[in-house]
Amino acid sequence: MTTTSLAHRATAVAARASDLSKVYGLGETQVVALDRVSVDFRQGEFTAIMGPSGSGKSTLMHCVAGLDSFSSGSVQLGETELSTLKDKQLTQLRRDKIGFIFQAFNLLPTLTALENITLPMDIAGRKPDKQWLDQVISMIGLADRLGHRPTQLSGGQQQRVAVARALASQPEIIFGDEPTGNLDSRSGAEVLGFLRNSVRELGQTVVMVTHDPAAASYADRVIFLADGRIVDEMLHPSADGVLDRMKAFDAKGRTS
Ligand SMILES: Nc1ncnc2c1ncn2[C@@H]1O[C@H](COP(=O)(O)OP(=O)(O)OP(=O)(O)O)[C@@H](O)[C@H]1O
Ligand SMILES: [Mg+2]
Repeated sequence: MTTTSLAHRATAVAARASDLSKVYGLGETQVVALDRVSVDFRQGEFTAIMGPSGSGKSTLMHCVAGLDSFSSGSVQLGETELSTLKDKQLTQLRRDKIGFIFQAFNLLPTLTALENITLPMDIAGRKPDKQWLDQVISMIGLADRLGHRPTQLSGGQQQRVAVARALASQPEIIFGDEPTGNLDSRSGAEVLGFLRNSVRELGQTVVMVTHDPAAASYADRVIFLADGRIVDEMLHPSADGVLDRMKAFDAKGRTS
């Protein structure tokens, strides 16, 4: 049920962008990738970011995740204002507080599924919480594949490993840039189901960029970007509703 999920809206903000702008280049070649964007990502909420190619989706996600610098405005992750951090502190914050799922699964081929899942914590010198790890592994349904290497797994299974890797360290927020972009619809649905479960059952916060209305319908809300600005928001999205909204934008784009 999606109707219960937004009860979370009264809860704390996991990440916030305020008046966030990002400008690439100078003079005539200048591109305004983000134009004073303000948005909250609340704890325990699943947000999809949609919009045409070049509208600033990846830029927004990268700036909020501390992967990219911004030109003006501010980004807060939990209580931390990103612009106050030095490079080393930013690296540490990304490592400890943020999980990433990329379109290319980015698993290390020489490591087993389990080793890939615990790698970020191994690098950080942290011991995984065994009970939590078991819960995550049982949720993604790969208990019998933990000794396999990525090449011995299907695309969907590899992406489930990547989801488990993002969840394993209990990050404050997980960002995915088209995490189902390389998957067939069945594997994609599986991965999206696990992401949604992680929000519903584990209280995870997830922000996902997607082009696919069906993928967006797994989220609690969708924000729509165009030309570096947030132009619309939809709560409890359905695939058809999202598709209609996208068509309306296209029609507007052609007539204006
Ligand atoms: N390194 C860069 N240098 C110059 N311009 C850039 C750079 N990265 C992105 N841009 C520009 O910023 C704008 C937003 O790019 P962004 O990658 O955020 O779009 P997107 O919405 O993620 O698109 P897509 O759906 O194609 O992934 C685009 O016009 C893009 O050309
Ligand atoms: Mg992108």
